[in-house]
Amino acid sequence: MSLKEVLVDELKDLYSAENQLVKALPKIVKACEDEELAESISSHLEETKGHVERLKQAFELLGKKAVAKHCNGMEGLLKEGKEAIEEDEDAPFGDLMITGAASRVEHYEIAGYSAVIAIAEGLGEDEVVQLLTETLEEEQAASEKLSAKAKELIAQAVAESEDDAVSEEDEEGEAAISKTSTASAKKPVRGRTKAA
Ligand SMILES: [Fe+2]
Repeated sequence: MSLKEVLVDELKDLYSAENQLVKALPKIVKACEDEELAESISSHLEETKGHVERLKQAFELLGKKAVAKHCNGMEGLLKEGKEAIEEDEDAPFGDLMITGAASRVEHYEIAGYSAVIAIAEGLGEDEVVQLLTETLEEEQAASEKLSAKAKELIAQAVAESEDDAVSEEDEEGEAAISKTSTASAKKPVRGRTKAA
């Protein structure tokens, strides 16, 4: 097997991965409660269609047919993502689970494109490098957006659990308030430190 054949083989894997993603993302968008999260995954779906096109161009540049070789890794990641959505449809952390599943997908793709670009660089396939670097940068940007959204959702959840703790105290008697107030007084401080 030549190095060029390794490159083509890796491209076939990515071609399968991206095509699986194009099929799976609309369901994930539908499962999002947070509008901003739905929008950013939906715009990444459009980018993903572009990634498929760039892979086709890369095959063409290498004088090869665009053929997919089933990517088991992406299949597994999407299966886990589907499970997360189905299990947590009504749970308050559904969106957070989606950002986790989607981040795994992005990191997997980043690893795949980085590997392919390194081989293409070694072979002096500059046009392929340039083409796939554009995709890599979009995957990285998508990953950063997901991390930021996850942080926001976590901060929201922490703030809500603190609000719940305060309202529980309100419902309890004065004796109970004086008992718990020392413990809960520490909570917001910790939350603030984390958010900062
Ligand atoms: Fe992609």
